[in-house]
Amino acid sequence: MTTLTIGIDKLEVGMFVLKIAEQKAGAVQIKTRGRVTSLAIIEELKRKGVKRVVIETEASAAGASSEVVKPDVVQDVHNRVPLAEELRRAERLYRKGLDIQASLYDAVDKDKPFDESIPNEFARALVGSLNRNPDALLLLSRIREKDTYLLEHSLNVGILSANFSRFLGLPEEQVVMAAYSGMLHDLGKIKIPDHILHKPGRLTADEMEIMKQHVTFGVDFLTDMKIDNHLIRVVSEHHERLDGLGYPAQKPADDISFNGRLLAITDMYDALTADRCYKAGMSSQKALNILLQDSETKLDKGLLQQFIKCMGIYPMGSLVELSNQKIAIVMKQNPSQPLQPVVKVFYTKIGNHYVTPKDIDLSKDNKVAIERSVVASDYDLDINRFFNQSISL
Ligand SMILES: [Fe+2]
Repeated sequence: MTTLTIGIDKLEVGMFVLKIAEQKAGAVQIKTRGRVTSLAIIEELKRKGVKRVVIETEASAAGASSEVVKPDVVQDVHNRVPLAEELRRAERLYRKGLDIQASLYDAVDKDKPFDESIPNEFARALVGSLNRNPDALLLLSRIREKDTYLLEHSLNVGILSANFSRFLGLPEEQVVMAAYSGMLHDLGKIKIPDHILHKPGRLTADEMEIMKQHVTFGVDFLTDMKIDNHLIRVVSEHHERLDGLGYPAQKPADDISFNGRLLAITDMYDALTADRCYKAGMSSQKALNILLQDSETKLDKGLLQQFIKCMGIYPMGSLVELSNQKIAIVMKQNPSQPLQPVVKVFYTKIGNHYVTPKDIDLSKDNKVAIERSVVASDYDLDINRFFNQSISL
């Protein structure tokens, strides 16, 4: 048996741990042996002060490439509430979420505390909807207005963070916390002058320095409000990067929490895929590619790999071009056949016009396949109008 002692940051899902090699003095001693089946376990070990572990290399190599390596979350697709049913509730919830976000930004703008029970309970309600059927909120997070970016971005980052935490099998309280941290992460932006906040294109170096202050503005406000310390820490870390070149504190990798790393990923993903007044959002694939390049030095690579699995090849609500020249929106994942989701066709490139919407389960229809991912701006599609007329109930 070949063994290797590695730092806890090198521990990956699938590795076989023989024992703890080093643990913070005074921490509760734990005896752990077995395969790491989820990032939640690694996070738990870190929380308990584990610094280095001994792994068995052969078993770890086998595990890393075997089917054993799955996030230990049960994708309970059979017990889900049907999408149409959950969508009705999720739409109300999403609208309420935008109102709450507006009131949070307003509170920061006017320097008066907000009633913490409102966003807290809302974060819980978001997770309730994700538990019933995550597709509803994930779909809504893709249907966005261009001029309410700040509100939608915060809400969507909450949804993406909670959905990702569920995928990782984290306990419910941490999933709620992830939703809440997304809602709070950019509140300080309300203090940034509009000409910088909404500037199309690149910021100058001086403008960037001002923009960076949004983290401190938000953290200061939340600190004055005496919000939970861990939440404040997570918010403070959403622009920190593992190479130590993030902001505002230029924290080294070891000092950036798991939730801070997670929030950095969901924040970047939503920002890259969002349509703005001055630019169209990227496809999920392009955005994930950029994140992957960043994961070489800046983002948590293992966590990003799990995020890519979580979002899937064709994320819920994304647009695809089919082999019959039609454009469709992804309406349901087929976990066993990720290349063949259920889609709703609504537009044809032949003559460039909308068609009567029709669902196709690509895993059952072998005459049509996905050619590529597209974005609404490629064909000047009004996805919001289509959504309101054809999907929303
Ligand atoms: Fe930010």
